[in-house]
Amino acid sequence: MWPYPQVLAHRGGGALAPENTIAALRCGLAHGYRAVEFDVMLAGDGIPVVLHDPELGRTVAGRGKVPDFAAAALLRMDAGAWFGPAFAGETVPGYADVFRFCLEHGIWMNVEIKPAPGHEAATGRTVAALTAQWLGECGAAAALAGGWQAPLLSSFSFDALLAARDAAPGVARALLVDVIPPDWQAQLAQVGAVALHTNHKNLTPALAAAVRAAGYGLFCYTVNEPARAREIRAWGVEAFCTDRIDLIGADFY
Ligand code: G3P
Ligand code: MG
Repeated sequence: MWPYPQVLAHRGGGALAPENTIAALRCGLAHGYRAVEFDVMLAGDGIPVVLHDPELGRTVAGRGKVPDFAAAALLRMDAGAWFGPAFAGETVPGYADVFRFCLEHGIWMNVEIKPAPGHEAATGRTVAALTAQWLGECGAAAALAGGWQAPLLSSFSFDALLAARDAAPGVARALLVDVIPPDWQAQLAQVGAVALHTNHKNLTPALAAAVRAAGYGLFCYTVNEPARAREIRAWGVEAFCTDRIDLIGADFY
């Protein structure tokens, strides 16, 4: 049911590097991680960039909304200095940059489609279409032939997943939820998802068993304690992402 890697570095390198940067991916690699979750949003000109927040100010200095900036401007912005002086100069990467890096280093991607408010369908459509396009290009095709696995798209946005399904039905999707809703199975069917991704804090053994019994993959975010990871594994959770890539080895499962 879960054909993908099972322990992922959250936001690239978990808590050990500035989130959603190439430096984070390098940090994950240094800790033996070959699987990653990161967040993708559209810049104002429709080009996807790897960022979590729809507004500047936390990981990127400045003010304003991400859709108010063209990608070229965002890609020049520092996304590392907030984390520490050693990372100053680390810039916001484009989705294309991260995809290429992961391909070159054999890193599997859980691409979280993270639309800025009001841009749900466009973000889902663009991320899915580009992912399908890049998977069809020769570098990715060769990597796939060599055993590298195609990415899994996930999103909290139902509309983004619907648009992703319509744009690139062949790229696998997962529905992300904080709390599993009563109609979870209908929602998964509607977006054609292969898996449910959920907050481990709101999961119960009964819900985990129901998701697995229905034939869906089950993934949790963001699990930072080994004992908790063992507990949810016993419930049937097949995979998770973590901020503590120093505490939880990539071979944990
Ligand atoms: O994709 C799982 C997890 O990343 C969801 O939460 O806020 O870290 O994107 P967030
Ligand atoms: Mg995320």
